[in-house]
Amino acid sequence: MFFYPITDSLSLWPLSLADADELFALTEANRAYLRQWLPWLDTVKSADNTRHFIQSFLRQEAENQGFGAAICHHGAIAGIIGYNHLDGSNHVGTIGYWLGEAHQGQGLMTAACRALVDYGFTGLGLNRQVIACATENHRSRRIPERLGFRHEGTLRQAEWLYDRYVDHHLYGCLKQDWQP
Ligand SMILES: CC(C)(COP(=O)(O)OP(=O)(O)OC[C@H]1O[C@@H](n2cnc3c(N)ncnc32)[C@H](O)[C@@H]1OP(=O)(O)O)[C@@H](O)C(=O)NCCC(=O)NCCS
Repeated sequence: MFFYPITDSLSLWPLSLADADELFALTEANRAYLRQWLPWLDTVKSADNTRHFIQSFLRQEAENQGFGAAICHHGAIAGIIGYNHLDGSNHVGTIGYWLGEAHQGQGLMTAACRALVDYGFTGLGLNRQVIACATENHRSRRIPERLGFRHEGTLRQAEWLYDRYVDHHLYGCLKQDWQP
């Protein structure tokens, strides 16, 4: 992975086990807010669970199948972005992300995502990058839309969120269309 400076105050850092306590504290403080759109909150109940989550990202990274980065804003972790899946055969990366609620509304995720997509195309040799957002998750949808991803279709009942299925809008960007 990489250290990727975006601005003086914003950068992407490779996630490491040393981040577990801080990341768990951020998760804990944002549990209800994140639970609206992310399916894994009930499996993260302790810093050990977060350590396990980081370990699985590190294993994925070692096998070139994905990775996670901390979004650092003024030296603190504001959220996470990464490739939930890297398909090396087809050069496709599937991006996932979240921010602590207090860090919303400042353009941090759009900037982080722009940096990651650029790194994916130029540094990882990807040809296609994908972001899937629940159709009602308007804040998330605006990120690929701002970055020029194309809406490629809608997947019906693509994800189980605790008590309901949600449809996903699938957004894709090809290397040939990418304008950083
Ligand atoms: C999805 C999520 C990351 C979006 O966060 P966000 O703060 O809306 O996205 P950004 O950080 O890119 O900020 C964009 C907002 O900041 C505003 N903004 C303020 N200053 C800005 C600046 N200097 N530059 C750019 N945008 C700025 C933009 O206008 C925009 O607000 P708007 O959408 O109301 O117009 C966040 O809502 C989240 O983590 N949600 C829970 C988890 C989740 O849904 N994950 C995604 C699953 S697919």
